[in-house]
Amino acid sequence: PIASGSSEIPARYALPEFPAVASANPDREPMDAFRLAVAKLISDAWQEPLEKIFNGVDTGKKGVDLALAVVRFKKGDLESYARQVTDSFQPNAAISAVVWQKPFLNFTLNKESFAYHVLRQISSSALAARQNPSSFTEAYGTANLYPGKHMLVDFSSPNIAKPFHAGHLRSTIIGAVIANLHEAMGWKVTRLNYLGDWGTQYGLLSLGFDQFGDEEKLKENPIMHLFNVYVKINQANTEEKAKFNAGEITDEASTIHARAKQVFKDMEDGEPKALAQWSRFRDLSIKKLEEVYRKLNIHFDVYWGESQVNKESMERAVRICKEKGLTCTDRGALLVDLTEYKLERAIITKGDGTSIYLTRDLGGAFDKWNKYKFDKHIYVVQAAQSLHFKQLYKTLELMGEEYAGRFEHISFGLVNGMSTRRGTVKFLDDILDEATDVMHEQMRSNEVKYAQVENPELTSEIIGSTAVKIQDMSGKRINDYNFDIRRCTSFEGDFGPFIQYSHVRLSSIERKNPNVPIAASVDEIDLSILNDPKVNDIMYHLALYPTAVRNAYTYSEPSTLVNWCFRISHLVGSAWESVKVSGASEEEQRARLFFYVQIREVLASAMKLLSLTPIERM
Ligand code: ARG
Repeated sequence: PIASGSSEIPARYALPEFPAVASANPDREPMDAFRLAVAKLISDAWQEPLEKIFNGVDTGKKGVDLALAVVRFKKGDLESYARQVTDSFQPNAAISAVVWQKPFLNFTLNKESFAYHVLRQISSSALAARQNPSSFTEAYGTANLYPGKHMLVDFSSPNIAKPFHAGHLRSTIIGAVIANLHEAMGWKVTRLNYLGDWGTQYGLLSLGFDQFGDEEKLKENPIMHLFNVYVKINQANTEEKAKFNAGEITDEASTIHARAKQVFKDMEDGEPKALAQWSRFRDLSIKKLEEVYRKLNIHFDVYWGESQVNKESMERAVRICKEKGLTCTDRGALLVDLTEYKLERAIITKGDGTSIYLTRDLGGAFDKWNKYKFDKHIYVVQAAQSLHFKQLYKTLELMGEEYAGRFEHISFGLVNGMSTRRGTVKFLDDILDEATDVMHEQMRSNEVKYAQVENPELTSEIIGSTAVKIQDMSGKRINDYNFDIRRCTSFEGDFGPFIQYSHVRLSSIERKNPNVPIAASVDEIDLSILNDPKVNDIMYHLALYPTAVRNAYTYSEPSTLVNWCFRISHLVGSAWESVKVSGASEEEQRARLFFYVQIREVLASAMKLLSLTPIERM
């Protein structure tokens, strides 16, 4: 639906009326409206169903707006079929030319009309989005395709008292974008952080805190302090083990290892004292994490975790596995046997009866199903855990769980050399701080501009995190990449700062031309003024934006959107000189300013989907 305030479409831009085509969305996507116009022309000439032809109309190669491969539909004398279309062709509001270029029918769109529809759609969607800020499906490129559908996404999910590694970094970055993309397609999304906060190591941590803990330090930076405590107690544990093995210690029950195991057992049994300590660690860690996520412009609806899984749900899972004959035993441990599916055998209960990672995920799935009744549940976790998720999903299926088909593991490759000047990265903070510092240095090197930036600390933090995120999402997610903070914070080349820079420049156009009245709608500007090859290229790329969003969504591939941003940034970068606002006539200024404002709208939307905060000055 076109937003209120927009007027009738002038006759010279009016596209023909079409019957609805299921796979087309002409009301929201100008490219679809023009693809339909092309399809209509052909389907009339050939007497073929519109929808069938529509699906064959593609964006053309170099310089060709839209194209159709005639062989896809006709056999024999292709040229004669092509002529049925070309011979009777009359230029209209949608198409200005068609030529037969074996094996394609190539179409040139009516540029002015195309510009009209693209700009109209962007500006009216932007208006609607502003009028309805709680909706995620008003902005250009979004679509309300899944009303009432609920998606649960488990991402980031770091482990308390352990380093935040590349796997968590990527899960955080990619997961946030996948969540946003789902909202843009009309899903209701619940973002869940499944903390690693359970297991024998938390018994160890508890013991360690009694020995090495410091209340002050814990309050100051719980994540770092707990990590340091963990390292110390772990070391003590290792040394003690050596002594035990050498026979220097004989009383096994008094060893750190045995006591840690006991503490964890107490935790699992719900012993209040054991739980109180642990729950304080957990709460403080979450508080600190939230602070860091805020810096990243990422939020969670729920902090859950391995500790929160119901005991009964785990017992239920184990019981069903046994009943269905899926289990076997090995040295006291209970395993599900998935060898038949080439998924090995997986422990679900340890010798001492305690749970492990997989048990908690099995029980957790049931808990979440009961609570959310999700239509889809995605886990964004590094590829190294592929087997784990296959085992999890297979086991749920074999257990006969009704929701077993609703899961998906979105995986990604490794990061090499994730380190900062201060050494190997342990926490998310380290990465962000370093990126911020590097950006701040770079900004300072231009004194004049630096003086105009209102809040340089915040700005460098935003560009720094943009750099880290874009570096992570530039390639296909399954590929590994080399972490390089110097490179990714560079202003030259296809890195994060370039995207922010383009947005800044687009924003500055409005600032620099305060006297140019901004048109309220596309109907107030003269589009013939915009006729310029550079403008046309940009219009075309703007029209491809909804496809980029949808492809990013369908393949869970943020890189598609990142590439769209780079491309528009390059196109705009090469238009500044020929499509100037300052110094032009009043009419030209009005038209061009409107044009730039719409580009900024779309770039800002793309950046927000990528979880970036678009900035106005840098
Ligand atoms: N905490 C885990 C790790 O660091 C990731 C958890 C992923 N989510 C899950 N449901 N297993 O490896």
